[in-house]
Amino acid sequence: MKEAIAQLPEGIRERLRQAGRLADESELDLYLVGGTVRDMLLGCARADIDLAVDGDGMGFASRLARRTEGRYTPHARFLTATVDLPEGNSLDVATARGETYERPGALPRVAPASMDVDLARRDFTINAMAVSLNARNFGNLVDPFNGRGDLRSRMVRILHDQSFIDDPTRLLRAIRFEQRLRFRLERETERRFREAVSGGVIGNLSGPRLLEQLRLICVEPDPWPVFNRLERLDTLKAIHPALASDDGLKTLVQEISRPGDLASSAYDGWWILYLVALFRPRREETLHGIVDRLKPNRRLRKAIEDMSRWSGVEQSVQSGRIDTPADFYRAVRTISEDTMLFLTLTHPDDAVRRRCETYYRHHRHTRLSIDGETLKELKIPEGPAYGQILDEVLSMKINGEIETAEEERRAARDLWSRRNRPES
Ligand code: CTP
Repeated sequence: MKEAIAQLPEGIRERLRQAGRLADESELDLYLVGGTVRDMLLGCARADIDLAVDGDGMGFASRLARRTEGRYTPHARFLTATVDLPEGNSLDVATARGETYERPGALPRVAPASMDVDLARRDFTINAMAVSLNARNFGNLVDPFNGRGDLRSRMVRILHDQSFIDDPTRLLRAIRFEQRLRFRLERETERRFREAVSGGVIGNLSGPRLLEQLRLICVEPDPWPVFNRLERLDTLKAIHPALASDDGLKTLVQEISRPGDLASSAYDGWWILYLVALFRPRREETLHGIVDRLKPNRRLRKAIEDMSRWSGVEQSVQSGRIDTPADFYRAVRTISEDTMLFLTLTHPDDAVRRRCETYYRHHRHTRLSIDGETLKELKIPEGPAYGQILDEVLSMKINGEIETAEEERRAARDLWSRRNRPES
Protein backbone atom coordinates (compact mmCIF):
# COMPACT_ATOMS: atom_id res chain seq x y z
CA MET A 1 0.00 0.00 0.00
CA LYS A 2 2.96 2.29 0.69
CA GLU A 3 3.61 2.31 -3.09
CA ALA A 4 0.06 3.51 -3.73
CA ILE A 5 0.51 6.38 -1.26
CA ALA A 6 3.89 7.14 -2.80
CA GLN A 7 2.16 8.00 -6.10
CA LEU A 8 0.29 10.88 -4.51
CA PRO A 9 1.84 14.30 -5.06
CA GLU A 10 4.34 15.13 -2.31
CA GLY A 11 2.23 18.07 -1.09
CA ILE A 12 -0.76 15.80 -0.41
CA ARG A 13 1.39 13.10 1.18
CA GLU A 14 2.80 15.67 3.59
CA ARG A 15 -0.72 16.84 4.45
CA LEU A 16 -1.75 13.23 5.15
CA ARG A 17 1.25 12.74 7.44
CA GLN A 18 0.40 15.99 9.17
CA ALA A 19 -3.22 14.82 9.62
CA GLY A 20 -1.92 11.47 10.94
CA ARG A 21 0.24 13.27 13.54
CA LEU A 22 -2.72 15.34 14.66
CA ALA A 23 -4.79 12.14 14.98
CA ASP A 24 -2.02 10.60 17.13
CA GLU A 25 -2.03 13.66 19.40
CA SER A 26 -5.82 13.46 19.62
CA GLU A 27 -5.72 9.69 20.27
CA LEU A 28 -7.98 9.04 17.31
CA ASP A 29 -7.68 6.54 14.48
CA LEU A 30 -7.63 8.25 11.10
CA TYR A 31 -8.09 6.63 7.69
CA LEU A 32 -8.26 7.35 4.01
CA VAL A 33 -11.50 5.75 2.82
CA GLY A 34 -13.85 4.95 -0.06
CA GLY A 35 -13.20 6.06 -3.61
CA THR A 36 -9.91 7.67 -2.61
CA VAL A 37 -8.45 4.27 -1.67
CA ARG A 38 -10.00 2.57 -4.71
CA ASP A 39 -8.53 5.10 -7.12
CA MET A 40 -5.14 5.11 -5.39
CA LEU A 41 -4.91 1.33 -5.77
CA LEU A 42 -5.90 1.65 -9.41
CA GLY A 43 -3.20 4.26 -9.90
CA CYS A 44 -5.68 7.00 -10.91
CA ALA A 45 -5.04 10.43 -9.51
CA ARG A 46 -7.97 12.28 -7.95
CA ALA A 47 -8.28 15.70 -6.42
CA ASP A 48 -10.73 14.91 -3.61
CA ILE A 49 -9.48 13.06 -0.59
CA ASP A 50 -11.93 11.33 1.77
CA LEU A 51 -10.88 10.76 5.36
CA ALA A 52 -12.74 9.04 8.21
CA VAL A 53 -12.08 9.25 11.93
CA ASP A 54 -13.00 6.55 14.41
CA GLY A 55 -14.48 9.24 16.69
CA ASP A 56 -15.52 12.87 16.37
CA GLY A 57 -14.71 13.67 12.73
CA MET A 58 -16.09 17.19 12.81
CA GLY A 59 -14.05 18.19 15.87
CA PHE A 60 -10.98 16.64 14.25
CA ALA A 61 -11.63 18.49 10.97
CA SER A 62 -11.90 21.79 12.78
CA ARG A 63 -8.52 21.21 14.53
CA LEU A 64 -7.01 20.10 11.22
CA ALA A 65 -8.22 23.30 9.57
CA ARG A 66 -6.55 25.37 12.30
CA ARG A 67 -3.32 23.38 12.05
CA THR A 68 -3.16 23.66 8.25
CA GLU A 69 -4.49 27.23 8.11
CA GLY A 70 -7.29 25.87 5.96
CA ARG A 71 -11.00 26.66 5.92
CA TYR A 72 -13.43 24.53 7.92
CA THR A 73 -16.97 23.89 6.62
CA PRO A 74 -19.13 21.57 8.74
CA HIS A 75 -22.03 19.47 7.35
CA ALA A 76 -23.58 18.51 10.68
CA ARG A 77 -26.45 16.46 9.26
CA PHE A 78 -23.99 14.01 7.72
CA LEU A 79 -21.41 14.14 10.56
CA THR A 80 -18.85 15.36 8.02
CA ALA A 81 -16.80 18.50 7.39
CA THR A 82 -14.60 19.82 4.62
CA VAL A 83 -11.17 21.32 5.13
CA ASP A 84 -10.12 23.51 2.21
CA LEU A 85 -6.34 23.65 2.30
CA PRO A 86 -4.51 26.89 1.47
CA GLU A 87 -2.86 25.26 -1.58
CA GLY A 88 -6.27 24.52 -3.13
CA ASN A 89 -6.97 20.84 -2.37
CA SER A 90 -9.68 19.83 0.01
CA LEU A 91 -10.05 17.05 2.53
CA ASP A 92 -13.49 15.66 3.37
CA VAL A 93 -13.51 14.35 6.91
CA ALA A 94 -16.28 12.02 8.12
CA THR A 95 -17.08 10.51 11.48
CA ALA A 96 -17.01 6.73 11.04
CA ARG A 97 -20.64 5.68 11.18
CA GLY A 98 -23.24 3.00 10.87
CA GLU A 99 -26.44 3.36 8.91
CA THR A 100 -29.92 2.00 9.43
CA TYR A 101 -32.69 2.13 6.86
CA GLU A 102 -36.18 2.73 8.22
CA ARG A 103 -37.65 1.54 4.96
CA PRO A 104 -36.14 0.50 1.64
CA GLY A 105 -35.02 3.49 -0.39
CA ALA A 106 -35.30 5.99 2.50
CA LEU A 107 -32.32 8.11 3.45
CA PRO A 108 -30.38 6.22 6.13
CA ARG A 109 -30.32 7.20 9.77
CA VAL A 110 -26.65 7.57 10.72
CA ALA A 111 -24.93 7.14 14.07
CA PRO A 112 -21.23 7.17 15.00
CA ALA A 113 -19.71 3.69 14.95
CA SER A 114 -16.39 1.90 14.64
CA MET A 115 -14.40 1.80 11.38
CA ASP A 116 -15.36 -1.87 10.86
CA VAL A 117 -19.04 -0.95 10.97
CA ASP A 118 -18.38 2.03 8.72
CA LEU A 119 -16.76 -0.14 6.04
CA ALA A 120 -19.55 -2.72 6.30
CA ARG A 121 -22.27 -0.13 5.52
CA ARG A 122 -20.72 0.75 2.16
CA ASP A 123 -21.89 -0.09 -1.33
CA PHE A 124 -19.26 -2.27 -3.03
CA THR A 125 -16.17 -4.15 -1.93
CA ILE A 126 -13.96 -1.90 -4.05
CA ASN A 127 -15.30 1.11 -2.12
CA ALA A 128 -15.08 -0.54 1.31
CA MET A 129 -11.35 -0.27 2.02
CA ALA A 130 -9.44 2.08 4.31
CA VAL A 131 -5.79 3.05 4.74
CA SER A 132 -4.46 3.98 8.21
CA LEU A 133 -2.81 7.35 8.54
CA ASN A 134 -1.64 7.20 12.17
CA ALA A 135 2.15 7.11 12.46
CA ARG A 136 2.26 3.62 14.02
CA ASN A 137 0.55 2.00 11.01
CA PHE A 138 0.81 4.65 8.29
CA GLY A 139 -0.14 3.14 4.94
CA ASN A 140 -1.66 -0.13 6.25
CA LEU A 141 -4.62 -1.30 4.18
CA VAL A 142 -7.82 -2.33 5.99
CA ASP A 143 -9.73 -4.53 3.56
CA PRO A 144 -12.32 -6.73 5.28
CA PHE A 145 -14.24 -7.66 2.08
CA ASN A 146 -11.31 -8.32 -0.23
CA GLY A 147 -11.87 -5.21 -2.27
CA ARG A 148 -8.30 -5.43 -3.49
CA GLY A 149 -9.02 -8.88 -4.92
CA ASP A 150 -12.08 -7.49 -6.71
CA LEU A 151 -10.03 -4.61 -8.08
CA ARG A 152 -7.62 -7.16 -9.52
CA SER A 153 -10.39 -9.26 -11.03
CA ARG A 154 -12.19 -6.06 -12.09
CA MET A 155 -15.49 -6.75 -10.38
CA VAL A 156 -18.21 -4.68 -8.76
CA ARG A 157 -19.57 -6.73 -5.86
CA ILE A 158 -22.09 -5.80 -3.17
CA LEU A 159 -21.33 -6.55 0.47
CA HIS A 160 -24.62 -8.22 1.35
CA ASP A 161 -27.85 -9.44 -0.30
CA GLN A 162 -29.99 -6.52 0.89
CA SER A 163 -27.66 -3.85 -0.47
CA PHE A 164 -29.72 -2.77 -3.51
CA ILE A 165 -32.94 -2.94 -1.53
CA ASP A 166 -31.62 -0.79 1.32
CA ASP A 167 -30.28 1.79 -1.09
CA PRO A 168 -31.49 1.56 -4.71
CA THR A 169 -29.20 4.43 -5.74
CA ARG A 170 -26.55 1.70 -5.67
CA LEU A 171 -28.09 0.21 -8.83
CA LEU A 172 -27.07 3.28 -10.78
CA ARG A 173 -23.81 3.66 -8.88
CA ALA A 174 -22.88 0.05 -9.67
CA ILE A 175 -23.22 0.59 -13.41
CA ARG A 176 -21.51 3.96 -13.26
CA PHE A 177 -18.44 2.36 -11.66
CA GLU A 178 -18.66 -0.73 -13.86
CA GLN A 179 -18.59 1.30 -17.04
CA ARG A 180 -16.15 3.96 -15.86
CA LEU A 181 -13.60 1.41 -14.70
CA ARG A 182 -14.43 -1.17 -17.39
CA PHE A 183 -15.28 -3.69 -14.69
CA ARG A 184 -18.24 -6.05 -14.64
CA LEU A 185 -20.90 -6.90 -12.11
CA GLU A 186 -19.97 -10.01 -10.15
CA ARG A 187 -22.46 -12.84 -10.94
CA GLU A 188 -24.40 -12.91 -7.69
CA THR A 189 -24.40 -9.10 -7.63
CA GLU A 190 -25.92 -9.07 -11.12
CA ARG A 191 -28.58 -11.56 -10.00
CA ARG A 192 -29.46 -9.34 -7.01
CA PHE A 193 -29.40 -6.34 -9.30
CA ARG A 194 -31.94 -7.84 -11.70
CA GLU A 195 -34.08 -9.09 -8.83
CA ALA A 196 -34.13 -5.63 -7.23
CA VAL A 197 -35.05 -3.92 -10.52
CA SER A 198 -37.83 -6.37 -11.36
CA GLY A 199 -39.05 -6.13 -7.77
CA GLY A 200 -39.62 -2.39 -8.35
CA VAL A 201 -37.17 -0.98 -5.77
CA ILE A 202 -36.46 2.05 -7.96
CA GLY A 203 -40.02 3.11 -7.21
CA ASN A 204 -38.90 3.57 -3.58
CA LEU A 205 -36.51 6.37 -4.52
CA SER A 206 -37.61 9.98 -4.47
CA GLY A 207 -37.41 11.90 -7.77
CA PRO A 208 -34.54 14.16 -6.67
CA ARG A 209 -32.40 11.24 -5.43
CA LEU A 210 -32.96 9.40 -8.67
CA LEU A 211 -32.24 12.49 -10.71
CA GLU A 212 -29.00 13.08 -8.80
CA GLN A 213 -27.85 9.62 -9.89
CA LEU A 214 -28.73 10.45 -13.51
CA ARG A 215 -26.80 13.70 -13.15
CA LEU A 216 -23.76 11.80 -11.87
CA ILE A 217 -23.93 9.53 -14.91
CA CYS A 218 -24.02 12.60 -17.13
CA VAL A 219 -20.84 14.02 -15.62
CA GLU A 220 -18.93 10.82 -16.38
CA PRO A 221 -16.40 11.18 -19.21
CA ASP A 222 -18.65 8.98 -21.39
CA PRO A 223 -22.24 8.62 -20.23
CA TRP A 224 -23.52 6.56 -23.16
CA PRO A 225 -22.16 3.13 -22.16
CA VAL A 226 -23.74 3.67 -18.74
CA PHE A 227 -27.15 4.41 -20.28
CA ASN A 228 -26.74 1.51 -22.66
CA ARG A 229 -25.93 -0.96 -19.92
CA LEU A 230 -28.82 0.33 -17.78
CA GLU A 231 -31.08 -0.25 -20.76
CA ARG A 232 -29.86 -3.82 -21.13
CA LEU A 233 -30.54 -4.39 -17.44
CA ASP A 234 -34.11 -3.01 -17.83
CA THR A 235 -33.27 -0.19 -15.46
CA LEU A 236 -34.07 2.80 -17.66
CA LYS A 237 -37.66 1.74 -18.12
CA ALA A 238 -37.90 1.11 -14.39
CA ILE A 239 -37.05 4.81 -13.94
CA HIS A 240 -39.73 5.80 -16.43
CA PRO A 241 -41.38 3.52 -19.00
CA ALA A 242 -40.63 5.98 -21.81
CA LEU A 243 -36.86 6.02 -21.26
CA ALA A 244 -34.70 4.00 -23.60
CA SER A 245 -31.14 3.98 -24.84
CA ASP A 246 -30.79 3.37 -28.54
CA ASP A 247 -28.56 4.37 -31.45
CA GLY A 248 -30.35 7.72 -31.59
CA LEU A 249 -29.25 8.46 -28.03
CA LYS A 250 -25.73 7.27 -28.83
CA THR A 251 -25.51 9.76 -31.70
CA LEU A 252 -26.86 12.62 -29.59
CA VAL A 253 -24.40 11.90 -26.78
CA GLN A 254 -21.54 11.85 -29.27
CA GLU A 255 -22.64 15.14 -30.77
CA ILE A 256 -22.95 16.78 -27.36
CA SER A 257 -19.50 15.48 -26.40
CA ARG A 258 -17.90 17.32 -29.34
CA PRO A 259 -18.86 20.94 -28.80
CA GLY A 260 -15.74 22.40 -30.47
CA ASP A 261 -15.45 26.04 -29.50
CA LEU A 262 -19.19 26.57 -29.20
CA ALA A 263 -19.70 26.84 -25.48
CA SER A 264 -17.68 29.02 -23.16
CA SER A 265 -15.51 27.32 -20.55
CA ALA A 266 -17.85 28.71 -17.90
CA TYR A 267 -20.79 26.74 -19.32
CA ASP A 268 -21.87 24.24 -16.67
CA GLY A 269 -24.94 22.61 -18.21
CA TRP A 270 -23.47 19.60 -20.04
CA TRP A 271 -25.33 17.16 -17.81
CA ILE A 272 -28.56 18.96 -18.70
CA LEU A 273 -27.90 18.43 -22.40
CA TYR A 274 -27.37 14.69 -21.90
CA LEU A 275 -30.61 14.47 -19.96
CA VAL A 276 -32.49 16.43 -22.63
CA ALA A 277 -31.08 13.85 -25.08
CA LEU A 278 -32.29 10.99 -22.91
CA PHE A 279 -35.76 12.50 -22.52
CA ARG A 280 -36.44 13.26 -26.18
CA PRO A 281 -38.12 12.93 -28.60
CA ARG A 282 -41.24 12.47 -26.50
CA ARG A 283 -44.83 13.55 -26.61
CA GLU A 284 -45.72 16.37 -24.28
CA GLU A 285 -47.68 14.18 -21.84
CA THR A 286 -44.69 11.86 -21.56
CA LEU A 287 -42.39 14.77 -20.78
CA HIS A 288 -44.86 15.87 -18.09
CA GLY A 289 -44.73 12.34 -16.68
CA ILE A 290 -40.90 12.41 -16.56
CA VAL A 291 -40.91 15.84 -14.90
CA ASP A 292 -43.48 14.62 -12.36
CA ARG A 293 -41.38 11.58 -11.52
CA LEU A 294 -37.97 13.26 -11.27
CA LYS A 295 -38.93 16.69 -9.93
CA PRO A 296 -36.08 18.48 -11.72
CA ASN A 297 -34.80 21.87 -10.63
CA ARG A 298 -36.00 24.95 -12.53
CA ARG A 299 -33.17 25.01 -15.01
CA LEU A 300 -33.55 21.39 -16.13
CA ARG A 301 -37.35 21.64 -16.17
CA LYS A 302 -37.18 24.69 -18.41
CA ALA A 303 -34.73 22.97 -20.76
CA ILE A 304 -37.10 19.98 -21.05
CA GLU A 305 -40.19 22.13 -21.51
CA ASP A 306 -38.42 24.35 -24.04
CA MET A 307 -37.93 21.30 -26.27
CA SER A 308 -41.73 21.23 -26.65
CA ARG A 309 -41.83 24.99 -27.31
CA TRP A 310 -39.11 24.54 -29.90
CA SER A 311 -41.28 22.10 -31.89
CA GLY A 312 -43.66 25.00 -32.60
CA VAL A 313 -40.79 27.26 -33.69
CA GLU A 314 -39.38 24.53 -35.89
CA GLN A 315 -42.65 24.18 -37.78
CA SER A 316 -42.72 27.93 -38.43
CA VAL A 317 -39.10 27.86 -39.64
CA GLN A 318 -39.84 25.01 -42.00
CA SER A 319 -43.00 26.62 -43.38
CA GLY A 320 -41.13 29.93 -43.91
CA ARG A 321 -43.29 31.86 -41.42
CA ILE A 322 -40.10 32.57 -39.51
CA ASP A 323 -37.79 34.00 -42.09
CA THR A 324 -35.28 36.70 -41.11
CA PRO A 325 -32.64 36.29 -38.36
CA ALA A 326 -34.64 38.82 -36.33
CA ASP A 327 -37.82 36.70 -36.65
CA PHE A 328 -35.83 33.73 -35.44
CA TYR A 329 -34.34 35.72 -32.58
CA ARG A 330 -37.79 36.77 -31.41
CA ALA A 331 -39.12 33.23 -31.60
CA VAL A 332 -36.31 31.66 -29.55
CA ARG A 333 -35.04 34.38 -27.24
CA THR A 334 -36.94 33.04 -24.22
CA ILE A 335 -35.83 29.47 -24.92
CA SER A 336 -33.11 28.48 -22.46
CA GLU A 337 -29.42 28.61 -23.32
CA ASP A 338 -29.23 24.87 -22.59
CA THR A 339 -31.92 24.00 -25.11
CA MET A 340 -30.44 26.26 -27.79
CA LEU A 341 -26.99 24.76 -27.29
CA PHE A 342 -28.52 21.29 -27.50
CA LEU A 343 -30.19 22.17 -30.82
CA THR A 344 -27.04 23.80 -32.16
CA LEU A 345 -25.07 20.66 -31.46
CA THR A 346 -27.59 18.06 -32.52
CA HIS A 347 -30.23 19.32 -34.94
CA PRO A 348 -30.30 16.89 -37.87
CA ASP A 349 -31.21 19.52 -40.50
CA ASP A 350 -28.08 21.50 -41.45
CA ALA A 351 -29.91 24.70 -42.35
CA VAL A 352 -31.83 24.75 -39.06
CA ARG A 353 -28.71 23.83 -37.13
CA ARG A 354 -26.86 26.79 -38.69
CA ARG A 355 -29.67 29.16 -37.73
CA CYS A 356 -29.49 27.89 -34.15
CA GLU A 357 -25.72 28.29 -34.20
CA THR A 358 -25.80 31.87 -35.48
CA TYR A 359 -28.33 32.72 -32.80
CA TYR A 360 -26.33 30.90 -30.10
CA ARG A 361 -22.94 32.31 -31.06
CA HIS A 362 -23.92 35.85 -32.01
CA HIS A 363 -27.46 37.10 -31.92
CA ARG A 364 -28.36 36.20 -28.38
CA HIS A 365 -25.56 38.53 -27.23
CA THR A 366 -26.62 41.40 -29.49
CA ARG A 367 -27.18 44.61 -27.56
CA LEU A 368 -27.93 48.13 -28.77
CA SER A 369 -25.59 51.00 -28.07
CA ILE A 370 -28.57 53.35 -27.84
CA ASP A 371 -31.22 53.40 -25.12
CA GLY A 372 -34.10 55.52 -23.82
CA GLU A 373 -31.69 58.34 -22.97
CA THR A 374 -30.57 58.46 -26.59
CA LEU A 375 -34.19 58.68 -27.74
CA LYS A 376 -34.71 61.58 -25.31
CA GLU A 377 -31.68 63.35 -26.77
CA LEU A 378 -33.26 62.83 -30.20
CA LYS A 379 -36.31 64.70 -28.85
CA ILE A 380 -38.60 61.75 -29.25
CA PRO A 381 -41.43 62.19 -26.72
CA GLU A 382 -41.38 59.55 -23.97
CA GLY A 383 -44.04 56.84 -24.26
CA PRO A 384 -44.76 53.33 -25.54
CA ALA A 385 -43.05 54.21 -28.82
CA TYR A 386 -39.69 53.91 -27.03
CA GLY A 387 -39.96 50.14 -26.60
CA GLN A 388 -41.21 49.65 -30.15
CA ILE A 389 -38.47 51.80 -31.71
CA LEU A 390 -35.68 50.12 -29.75
CA ASP A 391 -37.10 46.74 -30.68
CA GLU A 392 -37.17 47.59 -34.35
CA VAL A 393 -33.65 48.98 -34.26
CA LEU A 394 -32.53 45.74 -32.62
CA SER A 395 -34.17 43.74 -35.42
CA MET A 396 -32.34 45.84 -38.01
CA LYS A 397 -29.08 45.22 -36.22
CA ILE A 398 -29.67 41.45 -36.01
CA ASN A 399 -30.61 41.40 -39.68
CA GLY A 400 -27.30 43.08 -40.47
CA GLU A 401 -28.94 46.24 -41.90
CA ILE A 402 -27.14 48.52 -39.46
CA GLU A 403 -24.00 48.12 -37.37
CA THR A 404 -22.59 51.20 -35.66
CA ALA A 405 -23.96 53.36 -32.83
CA GLU A 406 -24.42 56.22 -35.28
CA GLU A 407 -26.45 54.00 -37.59
CA GLU A 408 -28.61 52.95 -34.64
CA ARG A 409 -29.31 56.63 -33.79
CA ARG A 410 -30.15 57.40 -37.39
CA ALA A 411 -32.42 54.37 -37.65
CA ALA A 412 -34.26 55.40 -34.46
CA ARG A 413 -34.75 58.93 -35.77
CA ASP A 414 -35.98 57.68 -39.14
CA LEU A 415 -38.40 55.24 -37.53
CA TRP A 416 -39.82 58.04 -35.39
CA SER A 417 -40.20 60.48 -38.27
CA ARG A 418 -41.77 57.80 -40.46
CA ARG A 419 -44.33 57.11 -37.71
CA ASN A 420 -45.18 60.79 -37.56
CA ARG A 421 -45.27 61.46 -41.24
CA PRO A 422 -48.87 62.39 -42.12
CA GLU A 423 -50.56 59.74 -44.29
CA SER A 424 -50.56 60.96 -47.85
N1 CTP B 1 -21.02 5.15 -0.45
C1 CTP B 1 -21.84 4.05 -0.25
N2 CTP B 1 -23.13 4.03 -0.70
C2 CTP B 1 -23.63 5.10 -1.36
C3 CTP B 1 -22.84 6.24 -1.57
C4 CTP B 1 -21.51 6.24 -1.11
O1 CTP B 1 -21.38 3.09 0.34
N3 CTP B 1 -24.89 5.08 -1.79
C5 CTP B 1 -19.63 5.15 0.07
C6 CTP B 1 -18.65 4.39 -0.82
O2 CTP B 1 -17.70 3.81 0.03
C7 CTP B 1 -18.02 5.50 -1.64
C8 CTP B 1 -17.96 6.62 -0.64
O3 CTP B 1 -19.15 6.47 0.17
O4 CTP B 1 -16.73 5.13 -2.10
C9 CTP B 1 -17.91 8.00 -1.24
O5 CTP B 1 -19.04 8.21 -2.07
P1 CTP B 1 -18.96 9.02 -3.41
O6 CTP B 1 -18.20 10.26 -3.19
O7 CTP B 1 -20.33 9.11 -3.97
O8 CTP B 1 -18.20 8.00 -4.34
P2 CTP B 1 -16.70 7.79 -4.77
O9 CTP B 1 -16.42 6.34 -4.54
O10 CTP B 1 -15.78 8.76 -4.15
O11 CTP B 1 -16.85 7.94 -6.31
P3 CTP B 1 -16.45 9.08 -7.35
O12 CTP B 1 -15.15 8.57 -7.89
O13 CTP B 1 -17.55 9.04 -8.37
O14 CTP B 1 -16.36 10.37 -6.60
